Amino acid sequence: MKELMVENRSSVDWFTDARFGMFIHWGLYAAIGKGEWVMYGQKIPVKEYEQLTETFNPNLFNAKEWVSLAKRAGMKYIVITAKHHDGFAMFHSKADKFNIVDSTPFGRDPLKELAEECALQGMKLCFYYSHVIDWHHPHSIHDSANNTWDYHLEEKAFYHYWNRLVKPQVTELLTQYGPIGLIWFDTSGGLSKKDSEEMVQLVKSLQPDCLVNSRVSHWPDFGDFQSKGDNEIPMSGEDTKPWETPMTLNKSWGYSAGDDHYKSTDSIIRKMVNIASKGGNLLLNVGPDERGEIPELSVEKLKEIGDWMDKNGESIYGTKGSPFPYEFDWGAVTVKENKVFLHIHNQKWSSGSLRINGFKTRLHQAYILSNPQQKISFMQENRENEGLYRLQLELPEEPPCQLSSVIVLELAEELKIDPAFIEQSGVIKLDFGHAKIEREQQQNAAEWQVKIAEKGKYEVHLITYKRTGVDWKNEFADSMKIAIGNESKSVMPNEDDIIEDSETCQHPYTEIHSHLGIFEIERPGLYSLRLHSSKVREKPKGPEIWQAAAVKLRAVKMIKMES
Ligand code: GLC
Repeated sequence: MKELMVENRSSVDWFTDARFGMFIHWGLYAAIGKGEWVMYGQKIPVKEYEQLTETFNPNLFNAKEWVSLAKRAGMKYIVITAKHHDGFAMFHSKADKFNIVDSTPFGRDPLKELAEECALQGMKLCFYYSHVIDWHHPHSIHDSANNTWDYHLEEKAFYHYWNRLVKPQVTELLTQYGPIGLIWFDTSGGLSKKDSEEMVQLVKSLQPDCLVNSRVSHWPDFGDFQSKGDNEIPMSGEDTKPWETPMTLNKSWGYSAGDDHYKSTDSIIRKMVNIASKGGNLLLNVGPDERGEIPELSVEKLKEIGDWMDKNGESIYGTKGSPFPYEFDWGAVTVKENKVFLHIHNQKWSSGSLRINGFKTRLHQAYILSNPQQKISFMQENRENEGLYRLQLELPEEPPCQLSSVIVLELAEELKIDPAFIEQSGVIKLDFGHAKIEREQQQNAAEWQVKIAEKGKYEVHLITYKRTGVDWKNEFADSMKIAIGNESKSVMPNEDDIIEDSETCQHPYTEIHSHLGIFEIERPGLYSLRLHSSKVREKPKGPEIWQAAAVKLRAVKMIKMES
């Protein structure tokens, strides 16, 4: 993967090094226990919602415990909701009495307590702030999610909200809580480009080193880093900036009493590793309850992740993404200085040899990260004139570490990788993020050049992510054409396989594989693979547009069949 061009390298460094942070969705809505959108979902009148403040008393809140838990999990920063869409400030705001200090019996400022604790424990503190949606304020305007049960849209004067609440509160957050790592804005639909720019300027004028995420605006190119869609793990080749995936542990952000649909620790680690291998950060969410406690199951998961990070953190923090422009079936790759880390997921572990094609660099040694005494024997074969570079590792019978085992390849020279799409153990996954997109009549075509090292029959699958509730037949009304070399087929993609435990696809999307046919490759060599379809599009720029797609094209996968 190419080196990222980052203008302000020094101020974003801490962020790209951190790789793993804690998201905290905590607000007045915790008192209802149905997530942070409950006011909107149930159209709760402002006056009624305000009554929640009378009894809101989260006196079990303990900043020291929260920060210690984040540390224990191996997280390097905390992003907490200072004000969410319900408009309730979880800090002492002079701009509006609708805040936790002035309007609840609790009367304490949790952000102040967190700021002090973070400073003590060396944790970066960051704030989430809902700058556009605010269902409490009579003058906030968003392009879709407004409070229309208390207020009339046509009577709204946006700048009353913007100038008298948003700007003063952002100023309070950046002047009263010490240095803030980043401000995480959200749902900016409808905000003008000028107001978006002004918001960025305001932040930078108060704290020049404070980062701003891309959701500050729905206009393209905003932000020091890109916030992906909720729970969205991008494909390889999609990134143009440092980026982060915000992710839920279960299916909710704000405390949701009935939600025990937790991801397994194993799957969270695989997702984190996948994200790191593409050069991104994982911002993993917890939703504390109305007493101020992080749900027990969340605490348990975070501790288990921490156990894995204690042994394997070196392969995550401060690393760069994989130099290979595709995902591996067995896991993922990260790089730091003279080390390449192979993350082999235990689920995919098979004893015997693991072969990696296109690895040109001579190795000094290979060993297990969680037990450096345990060396791994290897063989390297470089056939320059055929363009063939192979590394073969002899894996122990059992995976040496819990959940996911990391092998360190210590390099004897500078890292060199064949950047081509090469089949790896008979499989190659071609992400749309790396495709050359060409406009052709009504249909676009995506093209990749693929190096096939072994002749034989290959099955070709289309990988898509489908949003829950979307009708497949509506989305794929026309056939698509697929061509490899000179052979081509016309196919109607079906929902052939539904992948339950996808590494990168998650609620509200499902990973679907469609069988596009079998192709015979008669001799090893370089082939062009082209897919023509009305679904093929240029790479989208803004995260929210991308997130809304009913079906996302992810990759085309070639799988060698047993001969
Ligand atoms: C969404 C939701 C919000 C949540 C956020 C987290 O945009 O509106 O409730 O805070 O995503 O990424």
